Amino acid sequence: MRLLEIEDLKVTFRTNDGPVNAVNGISLGIDVGETLAIVGESGSGKSQTAFAAMGLLAQNGAATGRVLYDGKDLLSMRTSDLNKIRSQEISMIFQDPMTSLNPYMRISDQMAEVLMLHKGMSKSDAVKEAVRMLDAVRIPDAASRVTMYPHEFSGGMRQRIMIAMSLLCRPRLLIADEPTTALDVTVQAQIMDLLGDIRRDFGTAVILITHDLGIVAGFCDRTLVMYGGQIMEEGPTEAVFGKPSHPYTKGLLQAVPRLDRDQTTLETISGEPPDMSRLPKGCPFSPRCALVRDNCATVKPALEAFDGDRRRACHVTIKEVA
Ligand SMILES: Nc1ncnc2c1ncn2[C@@H]1O[C@H](COP(=O)(O)OP(=O)(O)OP(=O)(O)O)[C@@H](O)[C@H]1O
Ligand SMILES: [Mg+2]
Repeated sequence: MRLLEIEDLKVTFRTNDGPVNAVNGISLGIDVGETLAIVGESGSGKSQTAFAAMGLLAQNGAATGRVLYDGKDLLSMRTSDLNKIRSQEISMIFQDPMTSLNPYMRISDQMAEVLMLHKGMSKSDAVKEAVRMLDAVRIPDAASRVTMYPHEFSGGMRQRIMIAMSLLCRPRLLIADEPTTALDVTVQAQIMDLLGDIRRDFGTAVILITHDLGIVAGFCDRTLVMYGGQIMEEGPTEAVFGKPSHPYTKGLLQAVPRLDRDQTTLETISGEPPDMSRLPKGCPFSPRCALVRDNCATVKPALEAFDGDRRRACHVTIKEVA
């Protein structure tokens, strides 16, 4: 059994302009200790996939499908059971650490509170464990800094603290939504290294959501490419990056700066990301696709397996994409 298995997940938001179809039938799975990247341009439905899976959609949103964690469906589970899983088994971290940290509480109190509540620890044991976890995310002099407030740390440090918080209950799955987007490149690399260490030391599975393909390559076992709330392709990261099977993936990769190529300009994909309330009947990428065919706008390509462990949804042959 896989650690997390999402089956035919759909997310629709009610708005005054009619329904917005943010996620349109996503199926994916992640194994114990595995790392999966979900990539795609802004608005492709990456975050809403994660929010829906965790029961965190906005008021006007509704999800259908199944999200099986250890075989149990999170979407139909009692809130009290879901809360237990959300606090102890699956952790989420976001782009802005201040959304998860309380500015008015000392780090020691915020971290200890989690352990006292969920693990029944005494305050002094909880603070000790908090310091240990801050050490693990390489906060220098954690023992004395633990009593500081969030604003007394730099942005990169706050991100580390948030990661430490998310790991306090030793979750089996960490969902990181753009965890480094707000940070400068050097700090970004440090945080990615840290996530790699955590994965190794704690055996935590990680779903990394990002539009930055540059950070995916060295970190994730598998990569899933989303567009218009659908999967365009999925497979081992090396294969997806080395031999993209979808014109959209190819376009994304051409927009990533590379040192091993003599590039004077970066090619971006022309056109606008789709309006999720007016998606084409066929492939959502068809209006922007350079290889578009007659049936692309009207017939939705099925997500088909190939090469053993890859999947793609495209009417154009792999050879033509290459
Ligand atoms: N509460 C809401 N009401 C209506 N539409 C929404 C709501 N929340 C999200 N959406 C829409 O859902 C779509 C998918 O959004 P999502 O946040 O999943 O994108 P994303 O891939 O995470 O993009 P980004 O890279 O910018 O974070 C977008 O078109 C967005 O406008
Ligand atoms: Mg997002």
